[in-house]
Amino acid sequence: MEAYLDYNSTTPVDARVFEAMKPFFFEQFGNASSFHQKGQATRHAIDQSRERLADFLDVEPGDIVFTSGGTEADNLALKGAMEERAPGRDHLVVSAIEHQAILHAAQYLSKKGVKVTVVPVDAQGIVRADELEKAITDRTALVSIMHANNEVGTIQPIGEIAALAHRHGAWFHTDAVQSFGKIPIDIEGMGIDLLSVSAHKIYGPKGIGALYVRKGVKLKAVTHGGHQEKNMRPGTENVAGIVGFGKAVELVAAEYAGDMKRVGVLRDKLENGFKSAVGNVQVNGDPQRRVANTLNMSFEGLDGETLLMNLDLKKIYVSTGSACTAGSVEPSHVLIAMGLPEKLARAAIRFSLGRFTTEEEIDFVLKEIPGIVERLRKASTENKHEIRSTKHETNSKLK
Ligand SMILES: Cc1ncc(COP(=O)(O)O)c(C=O)c1O
Repeated sequence: MEAYLDYNSTTPVDARVFEAMKPFFFEQFGNASSFHQKGQATRHAIDQSRERLADFLDVEPGDIVFTSGGTEADNLALKGAMEERAPGRDHLVVSAIEHQAILHAAQYLSKKGVKVTVVPVDAQGIVRADELEKAITDRTALVSIMHANNEVGTIQPIGEIAALAHRHGAWFHTDAVQSFGKIPIDIEGMGIDLLSVSAHKIYGPKGIGALYVRKGVKLKAVTHGGHQEKNMRPGTENVAGIVGFGKAVELVAAEYAGDMKRVGVLRDKLENGFKSAVGNVQVNGDPQRRVANTLNMSFEGLDGETLLMNLDLKKIYVSTGSACTAGSVEPSHVLIAMGLPEKLARAAIRFSLGRFTTEEEIDFVLKEIPGIVERLRKASTENKHEIRSTKHETNSKLK
């Protein structure tokens, strides 16, 4: 038995997505820029995927730019908008819990002379409205606040934030990589100008994503080359990827409401199971305003990395933070920004469920984890005693 509970890192490709992609590696391999039939068939497939994505987001197909994923979409939004900014608008606002794709792009821009404000969040991981009010001014060109957080699942009130940005004449971008296909996104109603999405979080392939760009929002291309994607993202298109993304969107559009309902029940079973079978646990994030597939929990007294490795041995696959920082020993910047003491931030594990998560997997995890946690806690206390008594000995020797 194994349990994959790391869907926020990535999802398996749905078999139906793979089937749709297959022909584009073989007989339909043409370059979409070629004028012959082989090229035009590919062009048609790309257009179809663009329409599917536009349809789901309820926008025009012409407003979609395919990118190599969420990271590139975020970079294009931030760098593209800040380079194109109107004179006198040299200010960018982001939140402290953004993905590295945003935070590192903002860091890069600040070295290039852009003024960057990083807005704090409250204990639940919601961006502080009072701080936002203070931060956004008539010099702000762009406000970029993620829709749902990848580590704790907290959902931001982006409609209100976009309205605030617009009041000052700024554009509003949201990294919707973790909300897309999990909760409704109303681009018009929420007032979103730019939106990043990625296929590999919704059972599509890795290495493909998109940026929605509202008409009238001007971006400078980050990459230079051919005319693809209206010069916004030049380079021969990743056709199989785009086709897979289109199919993944079609499936998510039809199935996500049911999927998320089912997954929410399993997530709650996991959460309640931990609360009753393992003492001293704490759920991180907003218990209400949270995507239904995500559970971030601190196991007091433990080191998350050690717990992760022990779970790995049992074939239980989870994460201690965002996948992109896995391997780093720094505690999660998201949990620290939420005000968690470092010890609790280091004791956190993220469980993220998805389309293929079964009740058996949840039962398996609930059967295995309490014992593992108890053993590790015991070992950790014994270790501390040992260290303390060695210290005592050394001290007495010194005397
Ligand atoms: C919130 C968020 N933004 C951006 C990304 C990056 O997306 P991609 O892996 O497609 O580059 C991720 C991936 O973990 C994410 O969770």
